Amino acid sequence: MTAIGPSPPLPLRDNRILHHGQHVAIVVAQTREQATSAARLVELSCEESEAILGIGNPRAPVVANPWGMDTVRGDAAAALASAEVVYDQEFTIAAETCNPLGLFATVAHWEGDWLTVHDSSQWPTQARTSLATLFSVPEENVRVLVPYLGGGFGAGLRTWPHTVLTVLAARMVNCPVKLVLTRPEMFTAIGHRPQTAQRLRLGTTRDGRLLAIDHEATSTRATEEPNIQPIAMRTPTMYACENLATRDRQVRLSIPSPGPMRAPGTVEANFPIESALDELSYRLGVDPVELRLRNYAEVDPRSGRPWSSNALRECYRVGAQRFGWADRNPQAGSMRDGNQLIGYGMAGVTFGQNSPPCQVKISISRDGTALVRSAATDIGTGTYTIATQLAARLLGLGLGQVRVEIGDSDLPPAPASGGSQLATAFGGAIHDGSGRLVQAFLDLAAGDEQSPLRGRQRADVTVTDGRIHLVGDPSSGETYRDILTRHGLDELVADGAIDPQPPESAMAPAGAFAAVFAEVRIDRDLGVLRVARLVSVIDGGRVLNKKTARSQIIGATVMAIGMTLLEETVFDPGTGRIANATFADYLVPVHADVPDLDVVFVGEPDRFSPIGAKGLGEVGIVGVPAAIANAVYHATGRRIRSLPITLDRLL
Ligand code: MOS
Repeated sequence: MTAIGPSPPLPLRDNRILHHGQHVAIVVAQTREQATSAARLVELSCEESEAILGIGNPRAPVVANPWGMDTVRGDAAAALASAEVVYDQEFTIAAETCNPLGLFATVAHWEGDWLTVHDSSQWPTQARTSLATLFSVPEENVRVLVPYLGGGFGAGLRTWPHTVLTVLAARMVNCPVKLVLTRPEMFTAIGHRPQTAQRLRLGTTRDGRLLAIDHEATSTRATEEPNIQPIAMRTPTMYACENLATRDRQVRLSIPSPGPMRAPGTVEANFPIESALDELSYRLGVDPVELRLRNYAEVDPRSGRPWSSNALRECYRVGAQRFGWADRNPQAGSMRDGNQLIGYGMAGVTFGQNSPPCQVKISISRDGTALVRSAATDIGTGTYTIATQLAARLLGLGLGQVRVEIGDSDLPPAPASGGSQLATAFGGAIHDGSGRLVQAFLDLAAGDEQSPLRGRQRADVTVTDGRIHLVGDPSSGETYRDILTRHGLDELVADGAIDPQPPESAMAPAGAFAAVFAEVRIDRDLGVLRVARLVSVIDGGRVLNKKTARSQIIGATVMAIGMTLLEETVFDPGTGRIANATFADYLVPVHADVPDLDVVFVGEPDRFSPIGAKGLGEVGIVGVPAAIANAVYHATGRRIRSLPITLDRLL
């Protein structure tokens, strides 16, 4: 999991204040009003020292090659020096904040050495481990409950200081304590997408074949922060190119800890690369889609292994057709509608796949219903729904006969609902557990003279309507209920698990691919920019549920419109205080900013996943900034390499 590192620095660990928004005290009272009022009475005396701010600040410590994740393939410097065409540009992206609408909240309750915590977490299993470690109690003494989270976007992937403080306060006052962050605290206490500056150099032949990619990414980071979040890590997988170098650097500043935010690194790195290919398409006179096809990664460029699935070519073909790409006049500034400049732009996306381990427990009881249990959680993405559907199908039960219990760290460990990984991990574990459960029923029947299933192998049978029967003969066999009753059992239980791939697998786990096509309309006099149309074609392998999958892509696209046109977390250059930490000042897209979004799925079931699925939670955000920026160039002839693309950059 690339986006998640260890917990941020602990609260109250010494007497230094490292950034604006750092918690220095917690006030506990009977009511929220009392607590708020009492907190105003806290007096603080401190000596000021100078903040280190600004991504280009020469006084800021820089960490190079963090965690050894830089990549070298071939000789990029030599290939750049001899390439017929060389591209060299810099790009910047503003910091932005996840801003789930639901304010993050924690309720902590100690009973002796036993701790129960309700927390806005995307990862109950990890929250339990963190809290048990911090408070020196065994893991089994800690229970973290997150039955549902109203949006996380990455903000809930770490155990943040306010959660630790709430648990500490509950221990000290010896009764349950509840803490709800305010909106301004949602900007300072639970991470933000770091600011980035990137330099991208490409070398190509005259006909646009990539000879070299050199990608250097600088991102901002808090001081004394161990989190792992490289920016350029997916660049090596995007295109076939023999000579490649990627470098990550981090500038350490007096700011609140950044953290993961939807497609961390991948969306930032996609912007320069897909913008650069667009720029080259004009220089070389090659259509942008064609240019990408000339550099298509037929196999995983890192390992040379075949992809476990890849329908990126289909994404381009279907997207171009639905969008009407052929109607585009390739000349920049050539398409108009009255006073409006019209631009068409596109981008390709290679997302990748995280494959963490996951465990489940599945049971069928004598009333004929199944129960699926795991410490996974649902952050508004439909985890309950797809788990119910999968288990129902794999066990031959109706949707109403399956119950899914998640969001509880006492249940079998699960990975984060983040990193586009939970559906495939949890689904894979359900697949395994369901198979084992049916086998357990067959094992019971194996020595049972009365069972019509006696002596049957797993391959002979299938499941429908609550019964195990011979393939092709639903009237044969018997029900789960009959087997349990005859054996005097209340239930049968099976454990299911999925483990990360063995590193020497013959195929490269592909993850999702996508193509994005955008139309913008820009008022020639006022510079007002509207996204008029957006087509996203996604290869997500087997789509488990069309409605929740489409909803994921729509949500990600709306976030991407925000990132591209509106969102910027502004740090005061003198103090590092966030100057726009309210929804009055920090703009997110509203309905009027979002056109009808056309979302299409293509592709085949993925061979790496036992359920054929690929993660979809983040891929939808990735290509949108470049597609819009490329459309802006096509409309205006103006190349914008900084996000967000605000009015002042267009005038
Ligand atoms: Mo996401 S940043 O993996 O919740």
